[in-house]
Amino acid sequence: MLRLDKYLADVGIGTRSEVKKYLKYGLVSVNGSIVKDSSLKVDPKKDKVTYKGEDLLYQEYRYYILNKPAGCVSATKDGLSQTVIEILKNEPTRDLFPVGRLDKDTEGLLLITNDGKLAHNLLSPKKHVDKSYIAFVDKALEEKQLLEFKQGLDIGDETPTLPCEIKLATENEIISSLNNASFKICEGKNEIAYIVVLKEGRYHQVKRMFEHFGSTVIYLKRLTMGNLSLSPTLPIGQYRALTDEEIQILKER
Ligand code: URA
Repeated sequence: MLRLDKYLADVGIGTRSEVKKYLKYGLVSVNGSIVKDSSLKVDPKKDKVTYKGEDLLYQEYRYYILNKPAGCVSATKDGLSQTVIEILKNEPTRDLFPVGRLDKDTEGLLLITNDGKLAHNLLSPKKHVDKSYIAFVDKALEEKQLLEFKQGLDIGDETPTLPCEIKLATENEIISSLNNASFKICEGKNEIAYIVVLKEGRYHQVKRMFEHFGSTVIYLKRLTMGNLSLSPTLPIGQYRALTDEEIQILKER
């Protein structure tokens, strides 16, 4: 059970003070009767709440996939830059947060939710959830370096990086990953791109792993997280709600 003003704010009708006004104007009814008392307790599973005659659907947890553009920060608040949450401004964003962080200049898959338990399960180092990236770099790695990359590197942290996967990206992987990205391949330039799959998420990890070999990441995009993939049809800077099936799959892992 929760207060009616909280219920209305949670479904995105307005702020707590705005919804109090809507209640006063008689715009809200519960089970067919107009209600003006914002402290009335409602059961989202049983009670039928309407606003201006339209039925409301209360979802306790919300899940979105964002194709994060470069230039915005993976945070809920920031004094200077746009945040990933601000991109979802048409949704009730109050309690949403990004699941983990992508650097300001990294693009691609970012899950946004208000489900703390799912976020914990996806981020906990113990759970080893795969995250895959395409990384465009300025210098190819030698075979020996690729082997070291896979086995784990000392990048200045307390422990070496966990074993991971790395392989040269195919032409198809390059083309499909750049379909909905801001990065463009320069005509005639032989781009070097790798697919990297990590089981952890340390600060600037992909960039630091390449830097270990004197290779600089010039563009980085996340392609997958667990069983969730960024579809090539989701334009850069756009988001969509996850389907029930996708939510189920994420929770099952
Ligand atoms: N590794 C990085 O270096 N940056 C990211 O944003 C994600 C992984």
